[in-house]
Amino acid sequence: AVTLANVPKHIDHFSKFSPSPLSMKQFLDFGSTNACERTSFAFLRQELPVRLSNIMKEINLLPDRLLATSSVQLLQTWYIQSLMEILEFLHKDPEDQRVLEMFVEVLEAIRNRHNEVVPTMAQGIIEYKDAFGQQDAVTDHNIQYFLDRFYTSRISIRMLINQHTLVFNGNTNPAHPNTIGCIDSMCDVTEVARDAYESAKLLCEQYYLGAPELELRQTNANNIREPIQISYIPSHLYHMLFELFKNAMRATIENHEASRTLPPIKVMIALGGEDLSIKMSDRGGGVPFRKTERLFSYMYSTAPRPSIGDKHRAPLAGFGYGLPISRLYARYFQGDLQLYSMEGYGTDAVIHLKALSTDSVERLPVFNKSALRHYKLSLEADDWCIPSKEPLDLAVYRAAK
Ligand SMILES: Nc1ncnc2c1ncn2[C@@H]1O[C@H](COP(=O)(O)OP(=O)(O)O)[C@@H](O)[C@H]1O
Ligand SMILES: *[C@@H]1O[C@H](CO)[C@@H](O)[C@H](O)[C@H]1NC(C)=O
Ligand SMILES: [Mg+2]
Repeated sequence: AVTLANVPKHIDHFSKFSPSPLSMKQFLDFGSTNACERTSFAFLRQELPVRLSNIMKEINLLPDRLLATSSVQLLQTWYIQSLMEILEFLHKDPEDQRVLEMFVEVLEAIRNRHNEVVPTMAQGIIEYKDAFGQQDAVTDHNIQYFLDRFYTSRISIRMLINQHTLVFNGNTNPAHPNTIGCIDSMCDVTEVARDAYESAKLLCEQYYLGAPELELRQTNANNIREPIQISYIPSHLYHMLFELFKNAMRATIENHEASRTLPPIKVMIALGGEDLSIKMSDRGGGVPFRKTERLFSYMYSTAPRPSIGDKHRAPLAGFGYGLPISRLYARYFQGDLQLYSMEGYGTDAVIHLKALSTDSVERLPVFNKSALRHYKLSLEADDWCIPSKEPLDLAVYRAAK
């Protein structure tokens, strides 16, 4: 039987396997007409422990004082509990219908248990920073490295759970015949962009009594007359665009407080043979080039920190998680999210996604020696000169000649 005492042994065992990334096409096949619940069950009862154990190994490499916070402790109990529940199925018979039904129930319980992982982890880091002050550059780098991997792992585990529970709960969604689990094989990118704009606009109007207009253009290089559709998870796309719209709106309004008109937010969507790209341009004044990478750091925000308990009013900004998490969603299926800012003018945010479902393959962290090396990395001495503050006095050289 699986007991708390032998959990570490199981984690050691399963973390020796590398996670198996699935392509969007494989996800779709898993959920199509020849979908087999037993196959999916057999895959998940191995793959979920592998993904959980890989990331649990990395949690253990966090600084001791961060591990000791009540938030991270709580989070670890969730991971251990969920791992134990899945391991119970290792020796169960896939041919038994009751086993399959129980598995779906357990997965749903796990998904709910892990709902609050992101704010809980964020809370742990706030506790740690408040108690021990500003950390050194290595620790900051390690935490950023860890969080990117930890949140990616979570996105991927939820993806597996969602697909299995949605596909095998017996109901098909008549409103969306192209939807398999949470994937839409004909995800209308323009429609998702409009939805995300409308929600961000509502939120923005609550705070500022106004919002910039949207100017949306699109081009489908494969067929000008066809709408732009790819196989994608609409909720992931919506998440990214909603975050980008909120940022663009806030910047536009705060940069135009004195003027009567707001410049619109311009969105361009382009589908090519390989890429689906979305560019969102605002005239919100931009940020200095030096600071662009910092915007992707967790906790970095120029907005006041909203109170975490306030569930009545969704904040427009302030946790600093908008950009980093959105970039993880883009990268999860081999895409990316980049920011090009012109200080004094505005910002272009660009999302690149794979147009083909065969190219969209999960990008997953794996715990092995390479990952370990990252955490053990110490800050190396710089091998580029530091520019001196004082201008060099060339007269010295002239006199020596
Ligand atoms: N389009 C933009 N124009 C100017 N600044 C931006 C833009 N997008 C993001 N930023 C800056 O990046 C910071 C981090 O953004 P984000 O990760 O979404 O967190 P939050 O919106 O909660 O602050 C923002 O606080 C803002 O200072
Ligand atoms: C770690 O895993 C990755 C992906 O499987 C692999 O490319 C890399 O070589 C591995 N590193 C070590 C040291 O085994
Ligand atoms: Mg934001």
